[in-house]
Amino acid sequence: MARILVTGGMGYIGSHTVVELLNSGYDVVIVDNLSNSRVEVLQGIGQITGKHPDFENVDCTDYNEMSNIFAKYSDIQAIIHFAASKAVGESVEKPVMYYRNNIDSLLTLLELMKVHKVENIVFSSSCTVYGQPDILPVDESAPIKPALSPYGNTKQINEEIIRDAAYADKNIHAVLLRYFNPIGAHPSALIGELPNGIPNNLLPYVTQTAAGLRQKLRIFGDDYNTPDGSCIRDYIYVVDLAKAHVIAVQRMLERKAETNVEVFNLGTGRGLSVLEIVETFKKVTGVDVPYEIVARREGDIEQVWADPRKANAVLGWKAQATVEETLLSAWRWQEHLAQQA
Ligand code: UFG
Repeated sequence: MARILVTGGMGYIGSHTVVELLNSGYDVVIVDNLSNSRVEVLQGIGQITGKHPDFENVDCTDYNEMSNIFAKYSDIQAIIHFAASKAVGESVEKPVMYYRNNIDSLLTLLELMKVHKVENIVFSSSCTVYGQPDILPVDESAPIKPALSPYGNTKQINEEIIRDAAYADKNIHAVLLRYFNPIGAHPSALIGELPNGIPNNLLPYVTQTAAGLRQKLRIFGDDYNTPDGSCIRDYIYVVDLAKAHVIAVQRMLERKAETNVEVFNLGTGRGLSVLEIVETFKKVTGVDVPYEIVARREGDIEQVWADPRKANAVLGWKAQATVEETLLSAWRWQEHLAQQA
């Protein structure tokens, strides 16, 4: 079976994808500098799959180290490129660091792909490229809006870099996956999201508040033009998201695409408000989540949810989990972390 290089494979979405790749019979080498992940993730992956992927603690922007990896694993057939800095607020404070890390890593991969004749790359993009869409649900033909943060800009720039590289070299095959809001954890509760410090994202903040680690969830605004006034997102179960990567890789390896760059929205097609998420979490877990409504968060999009029909039709992929199952998995993971502590 083919070997897949997974950059950022120790991270949240990366680790779930590694599990699905291994379960589908792929060989995997993970490259991750552990800047926002822990080495223990490997144990979780091993316990779930009974397999032990190769792991290289290397920074993807380090050309020489990455060159050694391509030489060492000469059977790499495709890359799934997750490795990136991803905190919106931090990117506003440290834009140069974000541009260096997120763009250099992609450029390094593209250069080495050419040298080592690796032709396939899946790129982790984001619905952030749509900004506030004019039409909802948003499909892949919607215009790209000016980025609201350096982080968002790196996603847009990287999409363009890949398009240009694949235009110039038709041997390059790329799939750009635009994620909506990934949440939840593996049903085994052996891997999940490991936020660094105070979580930025809604779900880890909800589970940490439910666990008593945070006093109160702050809900950023209830005066938006939405039914209950809080923002709306398309929350997608991370395991469903991970499975889409396996399908995308397989499709590339089988050369099924009509063009050498394809783009897919990965979402459920359903928008849920912040308040709906909190209420549903409380209902399925039976655990309270104290919260207060505070001012809007700068840069937040009011509402966005996916039109995932292209991924449904072309990839034969569809989000399966209910939001109830997903929220429960997030809570099981939080409970698992509490036992470890
Ligand atoms: N929210 C709160 N309180 C919190 C955290 C979040 O009310 O403590 C709200 C936000 O205001 C937003 C919703 O919960 O309405 C979701 O917020 P997240 O931070 O979880 O997710 P975002 O939609 O803001 O951002 C996510 C990713 C980004 C990505 C963006 C668009 O974190 O990396 O989607 O793709 F850029």
